[in-house]
Amino acid sequence: MVFFHTRPAWQLPEGKATPERIFWQRRRFMKSLIGAGVGLAAASAGACQQSQTLESDLEHTLGKPLSGIARSPAFADAGREPTAQRYASSYNNYYEFGGSKAIWANAQALPTDPWTLTVTGLVKNPTTYDLADLTQRFTLEERIYRFRCVEAWAMVVPWIGFPMRALMAAVEPTAAAKYVRFTSYYDPAVTPGPSFGMPRDLPWPYTEGLTVEEMANDLAFFAVGVYGRTLPKQHGAPVRMVVPWKYGFKGAKAIVNIEFVAAQPATYWNTLAPKEYTFEANVDPAVPHPRWSQAKERLVGESTALFTWEEQPTVIYNGYGEYVAGLYAR
Ligand code: MTE
Repeated sequence: MVFFHTRPAWQLPEGKATPERIFWQRRRFMKSLIGAGVGLAAASAGACQQSQTLESDLEHTLGKPLSGIARSPAFADAGREPTAQRYASSYNNYYEFGGSKAIWANAQALPTDPWTLTVTGLVKNPTTYDLADLTQRFTLEERIYRFRCVEAWAMVVPWIGFPMRALMAAVEPTAAAKYVRFTSYYDPAVTPGPSFGMPRDLPWPYTEGLTVEEMANDLAFFAVGVYGRTLPKQHGAPVRMVVPWKYGFKGAKAIVNIEFVAAQPATYWNTLAPKEYTFEANVDPAVPHPRWSQAKERLVGESTALFTWEEQPTVIYNGYGEYVAGLYAR
């Protein structure tokens, strides 16, 4: 995410800048070197090595295998191949651990065991879940979802988890509950935040919100795993939100509290920059971000050309209109 105070208007948003990981796209990199007919064998060997180092380093961050999980037939095909994990798990936004995309190593400081997730507020059954509950109390399934960041990059991610409405059925929100606030783990001793480029006074902890109707929608999902394993810390272990028709910032990571409330809650990015990051934040090609167009998106991954990302049109509700358009019929 880009913070508006710190970046002059003439600068490209972060989503348009050369992504650091593009350097690791060794197949294309090598191909382009060969295509250019230049004798840069040493350079390509260097890129190869860097890619392999990344992969073996990343391997230590991957969670435990989750076996026997069925893929949801409704979400077995996102219309594109899932993004290779080496990209999805090394190119992350997690501002508690820094402002760059390469925070996957820093995020390993997140303490996830033991874990306590409390569900409070306007519910009949306030509940406290521990780490085991998250993978055992609800029936887990795999869903391959498109993922669209407000910065105009996109991925396809095979999440494992359970529908948010299964948790709602367990805690039973009362009729007075209209909104839900999700709060991420925060401890200033562990989550230092970005060291530059952002105001000092950030509205920690990271919070996000949905209406109860959005939370009850078929698509709304709690992920406890990805790519066949429990969530790596950089993705928000042990449990994070996935709401694929909204921009990625709506999906709070490492959730410690879910509170059912009567009024729309304040949320992190909306508090920082309300004109740039709305509460609703549905993916919409026709509504530009104040500093860049949302008409197209760049697909992160191996099929992109060296130093550019493949562009494709953005689709309203990220292509999930059949599930959610009814929520917004005005
Ligand atoms: N949750 C917390 N707690 N902190 C964050 O900085 N970043 C958000 C979202 N959830 C963020 C967060 C943003 S801007 C995006 S695009 C997604 O996480 C990125 O998720 P990923 O890193 O798993 O791809």
